[in-house]
Amino acid sequence: MLVPDTGNKVLEVVNARISFGGVRALNDVSCHINAGELCGLIGPNGAGKTTLFNCITRLCDLAEGGIYFLGKNITAERKRDIVGVGIARTFQDLGLFADMSVWENVMLGAHHARRDGFFTALYNPTLAKAEEARCSTWCHQVMHELSIDHLAARRTGDLPYGTLKRIELARALAAKPKLLLLDEPAAGLAPSEAAEFGVLLCRLRNRFSITILLVEHNMRLVMSVCERIIVLHLGQKLAEGTPADVQSDERVVNAYLGGASK
Ligand SMILES: Nc1ncnc2c1ncn2[C@@H]1O[C@H](COP(=O)(O)OP(=O)(O)OP(=O)(O)O)[C@@H](O)[C@H]1O
Ligand SMILES: [Mg+2]
Repeated sequence: MLVPDTGNKVLEVVNARISFGGVRALNDVSCHINAGELCGLIGPNGAGKTTLFNCITRLCDLAEGGIYFLGKNITAERKRDIVGVGIARTFQDLGLFADMSVWENVMLGAHHARRDGFFTALYNPTLAKAEEARCSTWCHQVMHELSIDHLAARRTGDLPYGTLKRIELARALAAKPKLLLLDEPAAGLAPSEAAEFGVLLCRLRNRFSITILLVEHNMRLVMSVCERIIVLHLGQKLAEGTPADVQSDERVVNAYLGGASK
C-alpha cells in the first residue's frame, strides 16, 4: 500500500478567487494535495468543487491567487498543456464522444502522453509506429485494469452510464497522469457498485502510483477510501482533515452532512 508522504505536495492552491457575476464560486480558497494521497473534496451543491477542478485544469481563469503543480506555477498554463504537465480529469457530465468506439475514446487520452508529434509521422515513420504501439499497449493495460477491454470495439454511446464512467476514467488514466481529478465518478452507481468502485480506486492509485482528488456526494464512498478530506461550502474552505475529523466537525454537519449524508 502506498503511504502518502505528507511533506511532499503535488498540488497547492493559494488564495484562489473566482466569481461568476455576483456569485463568488471560490472565495480565497487555499488547499494542497500530498503525493500518493487519495483526497476527497466534498461540499453541498454549488460549493465550488467543479469550479476548483476547472481552475486547476485551466478551463477557468482565477481572478486572484495561484495554482502550483509539483512546484511549478500553472496558474496561467495553456489549457492544452495541462495534460502534458501530468494532470488528467473526468467530468461531472461525461465528456466522451458517443459515436466513437470505446477504444478510440481511450486512445484519445493516450495521445497526450505520446512523445512524438506531427513531424515524427512525416519524417520518422518508424519512430511514430513504435510510439503508436507503445500507446496501444498502455491503453490495453488500462482497459484491462478497469475490466472494459472486452468493450473496445463497441460504440461508446450504446453503453450504460456506469460503463461510460469507467471509460472516461480509462481515458484519463491513458494520459499517464501524476494527478487525477475525478468529478463525481460514482454518480448514478448502485450502493454495491459504488463500494466496488471504491476498491477499484484504491487499486488504481497503488497500481499506477498516482495521486487522486475525488469529488463525490456519496459520503459512504468518500469516508471509506479517502485519507484526507477538504470541505468547501459557498466557495470557501470550511474544514479539512481525516474522515473522522470531518464527520465530527459541527460546521460540516450543519452545512452538509446533516442534510446530505447517505
Ligand atoms: N460558468 C459558470 N457561469 C456562471 N456561474 C457558474 C459557472 N460555473 C459555476 N458557477 C456557479 O458557481 C458556483 C459553484 O459551482 P460549482 O459547479 O463549482 O459547484 P459544485 O460544488 O461543483 O456543485 P455540484 O455538487 O452541484 O456539482 C455555483 O453557484 C454555480 O452556479
Ligand atoms: Mg460539480
